[in-house]
Amino acid sequence: MSTILITGGAGFVGCNLAVLLKEKYPAYHIVCFDNLKRRGSELNLQKLKALDIDFIHGDIRDKSDFDQIRVPVHCVIDAAAEPSVLAGLDGNTDYLIGTNLNGTINALNFCLKHKAKFIFLSTSRVYPIKAIESINVVEEATRFEIAAAQKLPGINTDGISETFPLTGARSLYGATKLASEMMVEEYHEMFGLQTVVNRCGVITGPYQMGKVDQGVVVLWMAKHFWKKDLSYVGYGGTGKQVRDMIHIKDLFGIIDRQIHEIEKFNGQTFNIGGGRAISTSLQELTAVCERITGNKIAIQAVRETRQADIRLYITDNSKITGCTGWSPQIKVDEIMEDIFGWIKTNEQQLKPILS
Ligand SMILES: NC(=O)c1ccc[n+]([C@@H]2O[C@H](COP(=O)([O-])OP(=O)(O)OC[C@H]3O[C@@H](n4cnc5c(N)ncnc54)[C@H](O)[C@@H]3O)[C@@H](O)[C@H]2O)c1
Repeated sequence: MSTILITGGAGFVGCNLAVLLKEKYPAYHIVCFDNLKRRGSELNLQKLKALDIDFIHGDIRDKSDFDQIRVPVHCVIDAAAEPSVLAGLDGNTDYLIGTNLNGTINALNFCLKHKAKFIFLSTSRVYPIKAIESINVVEEATRFEIAAAQKLPGINTDGISETFPLTGARSLYGATKLASEMMVEEYHEMFGLQTVVNRCGVITGPYQMGKVDQGVVVLWMAKHFWKKDLSYVGYGGTGKQVRDMIHIKDLFGIIDRQIHEIEKFNGQTFNIGGGRAISTSLQELTAVCERITGNKIAIQAVRETRQADIRLYITDNSKITGCTGWSPQIKVDEIMEDIFGWIKTNEQQLKPILS
């Protein structure tokens, strides 16, 4: 029997991975560890309880909180974070650095003690803002597209690969994640820890407590569902900024393989996302939400671009696909239908958080 610890296990990614693991491997002991900092994470506890998934209230910043875990652990999935790209921009960086960097180091030390594998949820936000903003784009009717001619390495019409430059500021959030990645690399090289780093683009699906600065795909659907206002912020206010998105079940497909075939991934870093085929602009997302909900809402245009925002991010999955054959399957429409179904079923519970 395998015991898997998921930090941030009451959050969107952590809770979904816990549930999907338990459903596929009922004999596994899954332990979710979370301080419930994210509003709405407490709602996910019911789902964990229903499946006999253990929950430990703990703070990843405090290494003694890990002492509550008294069983041998075989694998740690580190999904605890302050995941907002705006975090720390008010000058208060303590929580961000404490959680996203010191917390990762506490989790790595826990892995050393338990000789556990370490799977790290990193982010596309490790790539520098100015470099991303210097990607040549073509403005089309509903979105920005990556132009064929590019000056930087690691970018082509399929998206951004792992060889994209890493020099330059990337948001405080992105910096804490890149610093953590470096520590993961050191623990792998110096201590022989088995590790994988996944640099994910937008991940979405049910159980995501979407807000303006994180989880915008769910927020977009929720605002349409409850007929509330939204804004296209930045890049002229036209809603042409583009992201790829990956359904949490597609992400689970690859993490499942990483848990069970770590040798294939050990010590490596992968860009993981929906890729060009599963990408959308905000304008296009509006059209999908309108079709699914039957509601049309007011969307304001705010021309000024927000600090740390980027025009476009699309994952080039070539490395992970080349290594495993895996590629994401769930398309934008299906993702949005799934989110809609979750909101509809849990309307009363979710309204205070998402509307
Ligand atoms: N959702 C995305 O689009 C996305 C994209 C790329 C990377 N990621 C990464 O995936 C991971 C999970 O993100 P998510 O979307 O599930 O976010 P989330 O906010 O839904 O989940 C994070 C969880 O961590 C918990 N947490 C925060 N601080 C903690 C602390 N000090 N100690 C213990 N728990 C703490 C929160 O309560 C929350 O439940 C993060 O590392 C994030 O950086 C997410």
